[in-house]
Amino acid sequence: MYDQKHFQGAKKFWYQGNFYDWNKPVIHCMSHALHYGTSVFEGIRAYSTPKGPAIFRLPEHVDRLFYSASVLGLEIPFSKEKITSSIVETIKENELTSAYIRPLVFFSYGTLALLPQDCSVEVVIAAWEWDIYLGDRIRQEGAKVLILPVKRFHHSQIVPSAKLGGLYVQSQIGIRYAKERGFDEGIFLNLEGNIAEGSGENIFIVKNKVIKTNFKSESILEGITQKSIIEIARDLGYQVEIGKITKNELFKADEAFFTGTATEIAPIVSVWEENEEGTERTKHLIGKGKPGEITLHLYQSFLEIVQGKNKKFERWLTYVQ
Ligand SMILES: Cc1ncc(COP(=O)(O)O)c(C=O)c1O
Repeated sequence: MYDQKHFQGAKKFWYQGNFYDWNKPVIHCMSHALHYGTSVFEGIRAYSTPKGPAIFRLPEHVDRLFYSASVLGLEIPFSKEKITSSIVETIKENELTSAYIRPLVFFSYGTLALLPQDCSVEVVIAAWEWDIYLGDRIRQEGAKVLILPVKRFHHSQIVPSAKLGGLYVQSQIGIRYAKERGFDEGIFLNLEGNIAEGSGENIFIVKNKVIKTNFKSESILEGITQKSIIEIARDLGYQVEIGKITKNELFKADEAFFTGTATEIAPIVSVWEENEEGTERTKHLIGKGKPGEITLHLYQSFLEIVQGKNKKFERWLTYVQ
């Protein structure tokens, strides 16, 4: 039996067209992806609404999954329609009312030569109940974050806009570095020295009521939540700018927050910077050191949308029933 402490509510996963019991894994330990990170994945959320569970921006997530797969040369052996309907089926099969959904495409068993010529391409879809990634305390109090000493991989080196499994090794090292030093999350700078992103989130700042976020030229994953927040903010009448964010702009911001599917919206209340030796740190308080008004306004609007309470944005929801 596998401990399901971190996979509440999961009964079955979808694998290659069929459902399997959660406790009966089907993947060989010599699968290529396990050794070399040759996988792509998505993180999607379904929310409870008055009309039953609804999946947020499902077509956009499926499109990004296929785009990521194309970057790695993975030919997904199912159509977009089949993947989409199987994601919906996975929610139904597990009888979930809200969920985090994880489709994964990977090079499986065949060879351990770096070029996965004889490896089959396989697909898994899992779903379970997963609370917001950075936790409820951050939602209430805001996050204390550290500028990481390691720079984000650059768009001239690899494609950050694809969700490649192997790239997440850097995120894992980054968040571990921050957590071991008592921070809630880390922020990567890009090779140009500007703000890139969190280990698993995009970043927004607010200055004089103008909202700003960055773009793929800054070596980031272009988040679906980021794109949604830009649209929501403009709809609410805020001015939104898209461009590079310097470290100083972040330090002097009135508000700052992370966005991501797993995270939703997480206020940032302080940003810390280390000296080169990692022996001393300087604190930069964001605004008053509390979650900001505009951040909370956007979060509230986002929650109304995902919970099916905003007719205008209902087009972003795929109902499960
Ligand atoms: C590195 C990174 N940046 C940004 C994001 C936010 O993307 P999205 O809003 O599409 O979940 C994620 C989340 O998957 C991520 O892993």
